This record gives sequence, C-alpha cells and structure tokens, in this order.
Amino acid sequence: MLYNLHAIILAAGKATRFNTGNTKVIEKICGQPMILYPTRLLSSLNIDTTVVIGYQKKAVQKIITKTHAELIDFVVQEEQLGTGHALLCAQPHFKKDHILIMNADVPLINESLINNLYTKHIESQAAFSFVSAHHTDPQSRYGRVIKKDGIIEIVEAKHFNGDHNEHCCINAGIYIARKDFLDTYINTIQQTGKEFYITDLVHIASQQGLPVAMMDAPFDVVRGVNNYEELWAVEQIQRAHLIKYWMQRGVRFFAAQTAHIDLNVTIGAGTFIGTGVHLLGETTIGKYCTIEAFSYITDSLIDDQATVKSHSLIEQSHIHEHALVGPFVHVGPKATIGEGSHIGNFVEIKKSTVGKGSKAKHLSYIGDATIGNNVNIGAGAITCNYNGIAKHHTKIDHDAFIGTNTSIIAPVTIGKNAFTAAGSTITENVPNDALAIARARQINKLGYAEKIRKKNSATTISFDINEKKHESSCDTQSFIGAIKTTNDVSYPSTEE
Ligand code: UD1
Ligand code: MG
Repeated sequence: MLYNLHAIILAAGKATRFNTGNTKVIEKICGQPMILYPTRLLSSLNIDTTVVIGYQKKAVQKIITKTHAELIDFVVQEEQLGTGHALLCAQPHFKKDHILIMNADVPLINESLINNLYTKHIESQAAFSFVSAHHTDPQSRYGRVIKKDGIIEIVEAKHFNGDHNEHCCINAGIYIARKDFLDTYINTIQQTGKEFYITDLVHIASQQGLPVAMMDAPFDVVRGVNNYEELWAVEQIQRAHLIKYWMQRGVRFFAAQTAHIDLNVTIGAGTFIGTGVHLLGETTIGKYCTIEAFSYITDSLIDDQATVKSHSLIEQSHIHEHALVGPFVHVGPKATIGEGSHIGNFVEIKKSTVGKGSKAKHLSYIGDATIGNNVNIGAGAITCNYNGIAKHHTKIDHDAFIGTNTSIIAPVTIGKNAFTAAGSTITENVPNDALAIARARQINKLGYAEKIRKKNSATTISFDINEKKHESSCDTQSFIGAIKTTNDVSYPSTEE
C-alpha cells in the first residue's frame, strides 16, 4: 500500500510505573527492545518516521540508529509534559498530509492494523481517527471512549468515574490525524494538571463538528506496556506467536508453554525443542537438531542434525553438524565445535576451536585452545590458560590422545598423534607421535603396609577423664576432629 503518511512515535516518557528509574522503551520483549517494534514495522511499510525522545534520550536514540540507517529522525521533548506536548514538539517535522501517531509502548501492533486504520481514515474523510478495543477491566489504566449527545471524547483512567461495562471501549494510543487539523488545533489542547493529553484532540474535533473515526481492534493487538506485569503479558503473546510460527514450519516443541524463543531466532524443520529450552538473541538452529530440556542457547549457530543434551549453556558459539554437546556443558563464548565431535558431562569450552570427530566427554576445561581432528581428551584434562597475568594458547594437533587428568600449562603445543600419560603436568611442547609422561614415578614399598599400621596404632591416643592434662577443653576439642576412633578409645565424659 502507498501511504500519504508521516509517522510520529511518542517515546519520551519517564515510565514511572515501571519503578526502575529507566525508560521502558528499551526494555526487551522476546529479545528486542520495545521501541524497535513500531520503528521496524513502520520502516517495513516505508513510512517516514520521527521519534520523540526525551527521558534517557541517548540510550533510546542509540538503539534505534543501530538498527535503522534511514527513514527515521528524532525530535527532543526536553520536559515530559504529556503526550499532547510530545506531539507538539514534533510538529515542525510533519511532512505528509496525514500524520500517524503512535505510543511507543504498543509493541504487538501489526501491518494490517495500520492498513485498516489508514483505509478507514481516508474513506471516512476523518479529521482525526483512532484505534479502540473492548476492555472492561476497571483495574487497567486505559483512557475510555465516551459517546454522549453526539460528542465523542476520551477520558483518562484517573478522571473516569463511570461504569466500565457501559463504557467498554478503551483508547489504544494509535491515531491518524489530518495535518491541517493538527496545525489548526494542536495549540488548543488545555493543560490538565501538569500534562497536555493528545486524547483531547478527539473531543476538540468532535466539538468542532469534524468527522472522527473510531476503528476497533482486538485488545491483544493493542495492549499497552506500562509496568512489568503488562510487559510479561505482552511477551507471552509475542512468544506464543513465535512458537506457533515455528510449529507451522515443522518444529516440534515438547512443552511449548515452557520454551522461550526470541524474535531473531530461526529453527529448521524437523528439529525437536525440549522442555524449558531458551533460544535467545541471534540464534540459528539447523534442521533435524535435538535441543534437550533446560538448555540455554544465546547468539549461537547450531548446524543440522546436531544434538544438545539437557542443561547445556551455549553462548556466541558454533556447533557444527552431527556434533553432540551436553549434558551439563558450558560452550562459549567464542567456541567452535567441529562436525561430529562429542563434548559432554561437565565440560567447559571457551574461546577455543575443536576440530572434527574430537571428544572431551567428562569434566574438562578447554580455554584459549585449538584442538585438531579426532583428538581424545580424557576425563578431567585441563588447559591451564591463565597465569594470573595473561591468557595463553594451547594447541593440540590431530589424533592426539590426552590422558585423564592431564594439566596442560599454556603456552604449549601437543603434536600430532602424540599421547600424554594420565595425571601428567605438561609444561613443554610434545613432539608428534611422542608419549609425554610428566609425573612422579610410582614406587612400591613391599611389606610396608604392616609398618604403617603399627605406627598408626602407637600414635592413637586414649583419653582418661581423670588426667589433668586432658581437662583443658581447648586441647581436647582440637584433638577430637583428628583422632582415630577405635573401640578402645574412651572420650572425655561430660558428666563428672
Ligand atoms: C495513553 C493514553 C491513553 C491510552 C493509552 C494506551 C494519553 C494521555 N493517554 O496512556 O488514553 O488508553 O495510552 O496505551 O495519551 N510520552 C512522551 N512524552 C510524555 C509522556 C509520554 O513521549 O510527556 C510517551 C511515552 O513514552 C509512551 C507514550 O507517550 O510511549 C504514552 O505514554 P504513557 O505514559 O504510556 O500513556 P498511558 O498512560 O499508557
Ligand atoms: Mg502506556
């Protein structure tokens, strides 16, 4: 559709009902700041937009300019004197014959709502058009639409004393006005308390006998976000839309109501998403993957047919196809797990690359390392990458075998096809095909067990409550924890 529209988004408010001290418009909903919902919608419709910023304006502007290079400019409302005043600040920017005005806290609006409102506004030749929804909850703080004696007006919640069931239409905060109407009447809005209400324009137009159009929309599309409870409700709806979208594209959710999917996540067909899985940020999951329960994946790429077993945390990382990670692993940030590799059971891999077909299946830490193909990393092996001052790199070449509990003191290279013996502390490079043993050699002292037993029994102490030297509670107490307890040890009695 071609629109003769310039859009104004009101985003300067203080968001006092959030009680955070921060502007609500940068709160994230399904991973995307609230302000980007209307800005992205309007730029997808090719509508020039001015955003009114004020409270924490730099933070708001930064988020918008990072996403939008064009079509958006800004105007500053220095003092937050209400929505009518915010619109007044934007007046010099009005560029088209009709002005679309939207609150920034209505993130679920969509293209068809804008199209329907625009069509109704043009067809009815209205001076002022607005969106309304049916909503009778007396607790909610929406402006109510009141029609009486041929006059229509919006009464703000704090001034409304009527019956919510009788006046069951609320104002959604989305309007289209003729530019010439605004130019004539915007300055006639009277101050109420400290604020100028944009909603007064409905009453002004109606009193002037100018046509006012009201368009109904489902409440769930126009819910406002004024506190965390309302944000939670809106996020549930948005998330449900996303999950349904992926279900329709062949993704199986085991317990959809428990899954958390962000807006910029994509999931391939045939993939299984388990209970309580979080797929966040810019995450891409391939086809026929399995993401098991309670895994948490942020800004990562999981290739086709990879498996993430339960309770895995994956951040800013790339898991290649057919790889298997988890359960209970921490991959990332900045880790790459090669095709068909297995990483599992309490392993942490950070800033490292693991080649194809390699394995680290139990209790390892791999940091700042490059691991080749078909490397086997035994249980408990650790790259000691940090000496308290700087991080150092470890290289483990193809086909190497790292014995259980090897400590690899970086920087060091373990050559191709090399072995390290279990329990070794590797401080020097290991050549290709070598076996490195770096631990004390074992000595077996034959018959020594009997000697130890005798020695131990000689040092076992019997307490005698009559002996003066044990009356010192201090000495006695400090022995009790260390003493060997045999049947013939008598303890100090508490009774005299
Ligand atoms: C507003 C409407 C109410 C409607 C509801 C729909 C008014 C007076 N009331 O109430 O009728 O039912 O939206 O969600 O408009 N803002 C500024 N500058 C300001 C004050 C606010 O830019 O000085 C911005 C806010 O950042 C926000 C928008 O205007 O994005 C609406 O403000 P908000 O405080 O949320 O208004 P509501 O009380 O929800
Ligand atoms: Mg609001």
